[in-house]
Amino acid sequence: MKMILVTGGAGYIGSHTVLSLLGHGYDVVVYDNLCNSSYECLRRVSLIAGRNFEFIEGDIRDTAKLSQVFDDFEISCVVHFAGLKSVSESIENPLKYYDFNVGGTNSLLSVMSKKGIRRLVFSSSATVYGEDAPVPCVESMPHGKMTNPYGRSKAMVEDILSDLAKSDEDWSITILRYFNPIGAHESGLIGEDPLGVPSNLMPYITQVAARRLPHLPILGNDYETSDGTCERDFIHVMDLAQGHVLAVAHEPKSGVDIFNLGTGKATSVMRMITEFERVTKVEIPTAIAEKRPGDLPQVWADITKAREVLGWEAKRSLGQMLQDAWRWQQKNPFGYRTEDSEKLDCS
Ligand code: NAD
Ligand code: WQD
Repeated sequence: MKMILVTGGAGYIGSHTVLSLLGHGYDVVVYDNLCNSSYECLRRVSLIAGRNFEFIEGDIRDTAKLSQVFDDFEISCVVHFAGLKSVSESIENPLKYYDFNVGGTNSLLSVMSKKGIRRLVFSSSATVYGEDAPVPCVESMPHGKMTNPYGRSKAMVEDILSDLAKSDEDWSITILRYFNPIGAHESGLIGEDPLGVPSNLMPYITQVAARRLPHLPILGNDYETSDGTCERDFIHVMDLAQGHVLAVAHEPKSGVDIFNLGTGKATSVMRMITEFERVTKVEIPTAIAEKRPGDLPQVWADITKAREVLGWEAKRSLGQMLQDAWRWQQKNPFGYRTEDSEKLDCS
């Protein structure tokens, strides 16, 4: 039986994608070292899907263990989420980021090469457009100048994938560049589970709403935007998951194909707050704070290519994203943990 190998499938985007793949009839093997996720998430995915899937606890840098997975299952395609994603942590510990994100991907690609599996869908990021990118970001634009090791690790992997595809025309690689994924599955059973104080806007808002944090810092209000706060292209994680299903189903094409996954619409930080208050009826205390170095005033996607080639388009509204993020927070005040304790360290 042909199966989809999902690395990092216990994480935020991976778990929602596994759920969508299962819903579309795919058989799935999740491979994850659980360094930023938990088995409980996978249990809930299975519960919502009403079906089981395989799970192997392992690290993508462990080539022996990874090789065994290819021997044990007939893998037809790999969807590769596994990696680290904190911009601030990547500045503090760049080697760890290059090890996990670049070294880990290299390890996966070498095993896939040896086993003759050359179909890959890779999680990239809008961050590769860099700090001077004009908006909307179009896939044909070159990589821009990046401000942090996390972003550089994604750009490096994209370059590795391009070199690999040039070296062997059997490779069929789809690079998906996500904009700002937020929200949660509508059941409220799975969602984003950040460790400690969140650095991203959406989980910060929901934790302020839950009164776990006193107020939301608005990181700059004098940008040259509609209301002075930064504007981003927020996308519901279930729409993003559907984008992966369509990418997997898309007729494999030799080489590398790149798609933006966003809504094509920009929403300001201020509008996020007022819209959250409107849909949830919960007040968000705020305070204007220093700008965060490296933050760009405006980022949003040109989504023409994903629409025309994959037939994909985000369907869920901003209100739905915010409702679903809030439902997840309310039902799971400490994420997948039962109390406010630290998760395992990735080392
Ligand atoms: P996440 O941290 O929730 O999920 C990543 C998963 O990978 C976790 O389950 C973690 O345990 C696993 N993992 C990490 N290192 C591993 C390793 N060496 N071996 C095996 N498993 C490992 O993150 P996410 O938000 O779901 O992001 C998934 C992917 O999408 C990442 O590659 C990330 O860089 C990329 N991405 C995320 C965003 C975002 O805003 N969340 C935006 C753009 C791109
Ligand atoms: C959004 C806006 C902040 C927190 C990051 C990564 C990017 C990608 C997605 C992985 C910004 C403002 C935030 C807060 C705020 N990840 N903000 N108060 O920076 O667009 O993208 O996640 O690939 O690489 O950089 O997302 O949610 O951190 O910030 O005012 O407490 O919210 O200044 O304008 P960002 P974010």
